[in-house]
Amino acid sequence: MTPAPVRLLEETDSTNAEARRLAEAGESGPLWVVARRQTAGRGRRGREWIDRTGNLSATLLTTMRRPPAEAAQLTFVAALAAAELVDAFVPPSLVTIKWPNDILLAGDKVAGILIESGAHANGSLWLAVGIGVNLARAPSGTDRPATALADHLRGDVTAVPTLEIATAILARTFAVWMERWENLGFQPVLDAWAARAPGLDGPAVARLGHETVSGRAEGVDPDGALRLRLTDGALRLISAGDVFFGETV
Ligand code: BTN
Repeated sequence: MTPAPVRLLEETDSTNAEARRLAEAGESGPLWVVARRQTAGRGRRGREWIDRTGNLSATLLTTMRRPPAEAAQLTFVAALAAAELVDAFVPPSLVTIKWPNDILLAGDKVAGILIESGAHANGSLWLAVGIGVNLARAPSGTDRPATALADHLRGDVTAVPTLEIATAILARTFAVWMERWENLGFQPVLDAWAARAPGLDGPAVARLGHETVSGRAEGVDPDGALRLRLTDGALRLISAGDVFFGETV
């Protein structure tokens, strides 16, 4: 298990955009692109990702050696790796995962993941796994409450990690989970992920583009889709959207 090398930039628009440019120029990775500052950080569903000084913005550019249908499983690998980075500095019992890939700390968002992809000239699939972690400061004005590592440090932790330290830990935790996925398959990854994702078997409301549906979550499918049993009994597989667990409409 060797962590991928890191390219640290002082400033870029978005580490995901930078990874895309590198992929389009023929770079296949694996390579971490990390920036001290992003001027146009991107979030899921077209949202902005607000970068505050001292936070981590990192993207792993990698080329998929598996069938494209399995690419979604990388989300789970990324979520576990990011959660373990957070675990290193706060009481791990406070760290949970919210489907599909938000990391929560004491119930508030501390990290987010955005995976983008494209095809290399030879047809293989590249993936840009972007991970933003609020190490030092939570952004303000977000639609759901956000927090930062700095607000929950364990007693034995004396300081918020530097960008270099946080990157090194993330690169290592990611490499460990990637190796487990490659050697043991998806099930152990899914089991570890589910153990940290409360609310997957209770009431849930999903806000999808133009509709809001509610019912009972029934875990996730092997491709990562959330299984939502609607109030009329039908099963709906949700692969993208904002889901609120423990809520009803
Ligand atoms: C989300 O929760 O909406 C996903 C946020 C992803 C943010 C990270 S920061 C590093 C990488 N570069 C980006 O522009 N976005 C991702």
